[in-house]
Amino acid sequence: MTKSKPIYILGIESSCDDTSAAVICNGKILSNVVANQEIHASYGGVVPELASRAHQQNIVPVIDQAIQRANIDKKDLNAIAFTRGPGLMGSLLVGTSFAKSLSLGLGIPLISVNHMQGHILAHFIEEEDYTAPPFPFICLTISGGHTQIVKVSNHFEMEILGETIDDAVGEAFDKSAKILGLPYPGGPLVDKYAKLGNPKAYKFTKPKVGDLDFSFSGLKTAILYFIQKQVKENPEFIKENLHDICASIQHTIVEILMEKLKNAVRITGINHIAIAGGVSANSGIRTVLKQAEQKYGWHTYIPKFEYTTDNAAMIAEAGYLKYLNNDFATQSVSATPRMNVCEKE
Ligand code: KG4
Ligand code: ZN
Repeated sequence: MTKSKPIYILGIESSCDDTSAAVICNGKILSNVVANQEIHASYGGVVPELASRAHQQNIVPVIDQAIQRANIDKKDLNAIAFTRGPGLMGSLLVGTSFAKSLSLGLGIPLISVNHMQGHILAHFIEEEDYTAPPFPFICLTISGGHTQIVKVSNHFEMEILGETIDDAVGEAFDKSAKILGLPYPGGPLVDKYAKLGNPKAYKFTKPKVGDLDFSFSGLKTAILYFIQKQVKENPEFIKENLHDICASIQHTIVEILMEKLKNAVRITGINHIAIAGGVSANSGIRTVLKQAEQKYGWHTYIPKFEYTTDNAAMIAEAGYLKYLNNDFATQSVSATPRMNVCEKE
């Protein structure tokens, strides 16, 4: 039997505030380098101008490291995959222009990737002890910019069944954290403190929206008013109860997400359920979803931690699948800040 030729793809991700590069070989990740931008922490959110500037500084060393760690030469690469959108224009432009120049310089094809499809396709990265979901499956895509229930019929055939009508769930975590005086991004900190608190200490009302839609702006306001009232009575309230507050916020958010997933299973009859995006790193949703296997007979797919928050491994994987499909971009491709998960390019 002849051994198939290795196909090396470089993935580049620069949609928001993480600069990342990864090399994939025939579906297996050889390297995945992520440079986080600490600069935004003190501003309480991502500052687009600063993000773009930091990408410009990081992109060459990050790509160099990814190629080195993969133990290959850039001449070995078969194609360059990059995030075209959705994301911040200034951030996307850095990755897009770099990818275009590199593909031109090396004389190899260019592959444009939809960031949201990338999050979902991370489930197809070949890993030991990990089985990819079969089609069709439901993916709850939860990140700083999106909250969607997506029906995935094949690698590139995706349909949004429901989504948030206002804030994304990552924003709900980050804005709650900000109310508590925690730095950006607060999601991981809320998760950390939630592990030490009582999830039933405080009760927040859940929004009433369509079966498969989400709304988080009301929850944020409820948390704000609750904290303001408590702090008025006891200025030390947050400090004294931080763990219980975080646990209660996380518990409410996870209950909202699970309710919608139960609706999705009931409506579609599909019980293969995956999660994707930065918030899929959350220990609360990971635990409850795992329990749903026993409780409801679902088959659940929880990505490895390194493939939850923004990373180029998922872009390299999506690029590899597109490479096999002969789906290449031309040099006229441009960064596209607004893109839907259903869009093919
Ligand atoms: O996918 P991602 O890295 O970027 C976007 O595409 O938006 O998601 C970032 C979001 C942020 O809101 C961050 O606070 C949240 O994911 N996040 C978490 C956790 N880790 C990251 N939220 C809750 N718990 C976590 N452990
Ligand atoms: Zn993302």
